[in-house]
Amino acid sequence: MDKIIVKGGACLHGSVEISGMKNAALPIIYACVLVEDKCIIENVPDVRDVALSFNILRSMGATVTPIGKNTVEIDCTELKGGTSKREMVQKIRASYYLLGSEFGRFGEANVAYPGGCDFGGRPIDQHIKGFEALGGTVNADCDHVQISSEFGPRGTNIFFDFVTVGATINVMLAAVLAEGTTIIENAAREPHIVDLANFLNTCGARVSGAGTDVIKIKGVNSLHGCTYAIIPDMIEAGTYMVAAAATGGCVKLTNVIPKHLESVSSKLEEAGAVVDEYDDTVIVTGKEKIRKANVKTHPYPGFPTDMQPQMAVLLCLANGVSYVSEGVYEKRFRYVEELTKMGAVIKVAGRTAVIEGGKPLHGASVRAVDLRAGVAMVIAALCAEGTTEISDIHLIERGYDDVVGKLKTLGADIEKVTVPDMIG
Ligand code: EPZ
Repeated sequence: MDKIIVKGGACLHGSVEISGMKNAALPIIYACVLVEDKCIIENVPDVRDVALSFNILRSMGATVTPIGKNTVEIDCTELKGGTSKREMVQKIRASYYLLGSEFGRFGEANVAYPGGCDFGGRPIDQHIKGFEALGGTVNADCDHVQISSEFGPRGTNIFFDFVTVGATINVMLAAVLAEGTTIIENAAREPHIVDLANFLNTCGARVSGAGTDVIKIKGVNSLHGCTYAIIPDMIEAGTYMVAAAATGGCVKLTNVIPKHLESVSSKLEEAGAVVDEYDDTVIVTGKEKIRKANVKTHPYPGFPTDMQPQMAVLLCLANGVSYVSEGVYEKRFRYVEELTKMGAVIKVAGRTAVIEGGKPLHGASVRAVDLRAGVAMVIAALCAEGTTEISDIHLIERGYDDVVGKLKTLGADIEKVTVPDMIG
């Protein structure tokens, strides 16, 4: 079993290049199912969820060929719909984009129910609402989701009951080759929705309004191949920004889009850090005194839920009591139990964590309970007195490209070690 070992105390200093965004790369990879041609995707992050998605497409008959650093050629011409394997699909959430892309290309879909981080219920009722509005007949149980239709997807109007990134993406994928025009209202506005729209339009689709809450999609007959570069990962960037602030260091992040980081930059400044923004760079300087602050996560452009655990660690170091409210998921505080092993004083009541800051953190043996919680434990370990061992780090590697190497470059005393699994 692999573990990350961190000896706390270093102030992070230096420069780190941010990788392509996992949550933009995944929908774009599955969008290639719609394209019976070669697509070259650049700035692809080297993370487990992306590698698994490549293998899911390969298992369906696509060819996926690395052609350089963080660049891959995907050709789904020979891909067969409905042939993804349950044991692969159920490992991640993003595999459910096969529903939209298979329905969009073949007029039908058949995919095992997706997996993903455990944040309480993660239903797909809005996805189903969208597929049915497009003329699909959906049969879904806890095991499988099947979509069938007489004529393939037909343009329609959909008003989502609430903002959902996944359902917005899935309807976009199903609608780009539909007969007629589709209007999505109450759409998610995340930068990765815009990135997907830009990719689809580069392949000849007609998507407008992405980034606003109304997205219009005029169906086209087919899509052609293209070359496309994924946007930088705003959550990876936010993670290193918080690590810089928490360790009282000074870190330059390159290959970022400062606009995407506004809610995180603003909250870090409220907590006392200094954030300087340039064209594709931000510099974060942490201060001795970290101020308490209250956080409520919200769909973009609000404070991202995927930055909630990391911010909670910073607030553990602040003077005073801070409140962190989770506005997107039912439960996203499983990491609190691990943080308290390191001396944090946090009480969770429903969807709010009350953090009594200023208690020193000390090293401990902890685990990554999910992707972002795992990286939050790394930040806590960087700030703790003594040594921390973090297990289940494969969850961190789902979404962070070379996190140990990047933190080492910034001066962290951090190692990835392989510990023989306990026998018996
Ligand atoms: C995407 O998940 C991301 N995953 C998540 O990132 C991210 O936290 C989330 O968007 C919000 O930004 C990927 O991109 C692979 P949603 P998704 O549809 O699509 C509920 C990470 O760490 N809901 O916006 O599942 C749902 O249960 C991961 O990189 C319904 O009830 O997010 C959740 O509570 C973690 N019915 C909320 O809405 C539906 O039909 C947000 O879901 C759909 C969603």
